[in-house]
Amino acid sequence: MKSYKITLLPGDGIGPEITNVTRNILYLISKKFDFELKFKEMPFGGSAIESDSIPLPHKTLQECKNSDAVLLAAIGDPKYDNLPREKRPETGLLKLRSSLDLFANIRPVKIIPSLSKSSSLKEEFVNEVDLVVVRELTSGIYFGEPKGRIKTESGERAFNTMTYTSQEIKRIAEIAFKLAAQRKQKVCSVDKANVLDVSQLWREETILISNNFKEIELTHQYVDNAAMQLVRDPSQFDVILTSNLFGDILSDIAAMLTGSIGMLPSASLTKDGPGVFEPVHGSAPDIAGKDIANPIAMLLSAAMMLKIAFNEHDAGNYLENTINEILNEGYRTSDLMSNGTSKQVGCCKIGELLAEKIK
Ligand code: IPM
Ligand code: MN
Repeated sequence: MKSYKITLLPGDGIGPEITNVTRNILYLISKKFDFELKFKEMPFGGSAIESDSIPLPHKTLQECKNSDAVLLAAIGDPKYDNLPREKRPETGLLKLRSSLDLFANIRPVKIIPSLSKSSSLKEEFVNEVDLVVVRELTSGIYFGEPKGRIKTESGERAFNTMTYTSQEIKRIAEIAFKLAAQRKQKVCSVDKANVLDVSQLWREETILISNNFKEIELTHQYVDNAAMQLVRDPSQFDVILTSNLFGDILSDIAAMLTGSIGMLPSASLTKDGPGVFEPVHGSAPDIAGKDIANPIAMLLSAAMMLKIAFNEHDAGNYLENTINEILNEGYRTSDLMSNGTSKQVGCCKIGELLAEKIK
């Protein structure tokens, strides 16, 4: 029997609750589709600060490296806000991304028809939305040097560096074009080339790569315009290719088109090596432990893992369809409630409803 090793990182806040649901469902899916999943839970984020005094312990990183895929829930809690930067949960996440060289962050945004009323935009604007944000994840201003804070005579100065090399741009652009080739054949590259040198290089390299993909239509938008277009006419987009910081911001905007950031999965991939599959949302400490969190983004991340990391396409599609079924039946966590016929349920209940269908 085929067998896959998954490192589970439940993290903080709502992380452990949505992980429990996801792990149970994955187990049932593996039985149904005849493969084995071996889970190993490791400390990460705030929970690792508690147990090991650092957000990404060495043993956690080793487990991740030795697995076929990493499934991450969410990390972070305001109670760590005052720790020095190297000790904060987010620093652990950035270190995980760079240590595994996860340069390609894929964030699909597709409207589930039964949820089009939950969107903060009018239904007619979001009905057709089916886009993917391809965000560069291991360079740009998140990692650029020099960075820091220095004291000057007139007070402090703080700085970060937005940097990309040709190679870094080329490898993420290639991912975007290959993805577009399997979709609607369109790449929109988002930059700020009217102001930033780094964006000028981004644009030039993207155009060069597009020469190898003649059938794909390449367009460019400045990031401010792209933010506006995402709420003005989001169905114009197929693949959005962009840098680390712009992708961070645009993917949150895009997430809201689906009604809730609690719906959006992601995959962070490298050339060869394990990928990290995680919801786009955060750890939502304010609702942790109340059984009201929406586990769907993590479940959809698990479906991406089945398809992308394990090539178990039938199992991944089946999981996605089963989620659609319970949504069609009107079940919603509180973040998705709209007027009408929805039936409000908690996190565990979503798991139970899915389990009934899968068995
Ligand atoms: C994301 C998150 C992270 C990021 C934070 C938690 C460091 O917002 O994955 O989008 O900024 O990349
Ligand atoms: Mn973000």
